[in-house]
Amino acid sequence: MRLCVIGAGYVGLVTATCFAEMGNQVMCVERDPFRLARLAKGQAPLYEPGLESMLQDQVAAGRLGFTASLAEGIDRADVIFIAVGTPSGEDGSADLSHVLEVAEELGAGLKRPCLVVDKSTVPVGTAERVADRIHSGLAARGLGFRVEVASNPEFLKEGSAIEDFMRPDRVVIGCESPEAAECLRRLYAPFLRNHDRLLVMGLRAAEFTKYAANAFLATKISFMNEMAGICARLEVDIEEVRRGVGSDKRIGTHFIYAGCGYGGSCFPKDVRALIRTAEQEGIEPGILRAVEARNALQKTLLYQSVREHFNGFLKGRVIALWGLAFKPGTDDLREAPSLVLLEALLQAGARVRAHDPVANAGVAARFPRAVETGQLRLDDSPYEVTDGADALVLVTEWKQFRQPNFERIRGLMRMPVIFDGRNLYEPEQLVESGFVYRGVGRPQRGHCKATAA
Ligand code: UDX
Repeated sequence: MRLCVIGAGYVGLVTATCFAEMGNQVMCVERDPFRLARLAKGQAPLYEPGLESMLQDQVAAGRLGFTASLAEGIDRADVIFIAVGTPSGEDGSADLSHVLEVAEELGAGLKRPCLVVDKSTVPVGTAERVADRIHSGLAARGLGFRVEVASNPEFLKEGSAIEDFMRPDRVVIGCESPEAAECLRRLYAPFLRNHDRLLVMGLRAAEFTKYAANAFLATKISFMNEMAGICARLEVDIEEVRRGVGSDKRIGTHFIYAGCGYGGSCFPKDVRALIRTAEQEGIEPGILRAVEARNALQKTLLYQSVREHFNGFLKGRVIALWGLAFKPGTDDLREAPSLVLLEALLQAGARVRAHDPVANAGVAARFPRAVETGQLRLDDSPYEVTDGADALVLVTEWKQFRQPNFERIRGLMRMPVIFDGRNLYEPEQLVESGFVYRGVGRPQRGHCKATAA
């Protein structure tokens, strides 16, 4: 099929590349000159394992192209995917300006019938608004053909985006006509060869499904974070509890890991947007508000824990951070817990030495003053940052942090204290290696001698 994907962000670029990989002819429209210039050189403008080489292969095979021109992108396309951003507006609702702008341009530019598909996460009713805009544009040009707008929300996760797209748990299609359903069924067939997990439903149900799914996952996390808070007071280890509850099939083992809060481009934004939708409909979204409030609190706990450990005196303390991206496998810093911690540590006068395998540059750009004065130093080596440190804080659980050389770290640190923001480590092992260990929702282990200034 001939496809056009509008927007080369996470969702758009992965969608375009994976459809090309399956043999489709794909044009991807990107307006940002910086992104486009990188794409023209075969470079992915974002860090995502496996994406760049697949993209290069598809460009070389002539199946994937990039352009700044929407007219060029949609020319001869059978299916047009809208995959532009829907950031949080000032009141928390999804800002649809990019989506509606694209709809207007489609109304002004389409020359023949085609299927338009919303892949961006958009509130219920957006597909209808997109269709209205397209049709008024067509009518203004004296064109009478109909363009159907379908909804096909994307569930991929950053860091495993290719794998998620190639082997989806399910593909949700919301549409009005059997023809649109059939067209998308054919397009997705190669991804669902051994299991038919294509769910066709109403347009509005598809749009809502994405919000409900993300809000539910965020709820699981906030729930476990709250349980962790209670566990910590009761001298109970949340990790034992997690294994205990997760083995119940009705609960499941995924997304029940307590930590330092969820971040990223989806959960925070989508929970906020759903709260706004509920409010607009006169529904009090009590659960969603609690999920959000718990997450905001959770992001402050690592700092509180470090502060408490040093009896409130952080000025001049050297704090090492491991992991800055909102999760492993990405350089994305949007709503990352590390930013809340960094802000607080710098504010308190601590000296921060941080390392992330891919997100150092992004953090340096966000804290230019601290980098300039030397209060914040970003380093390429995880060991280097522990040299002379009064504490080490694990914020993002990259694989390379799983089994570090603890002996070496203990030798380098001024005080061997580890704050484990993801409960990545076995407390007993760390205590045996001479560390004080503090996790999230776990009893403190090891002797605390680190209160002297
Ligand atoms: C999420 C959804 O999973 C995906 O389906 C949707 O398309 C986009 O939003 P993503 O934001 O890429 O994907 O990351 P995800 O792996 O879901 O993690 C989100 C956040 O939750 C991260 O900050 C992660 O650290 C945190 N998390 C996840 C926990 O704190 N505990 C868990 O058990 C799982």
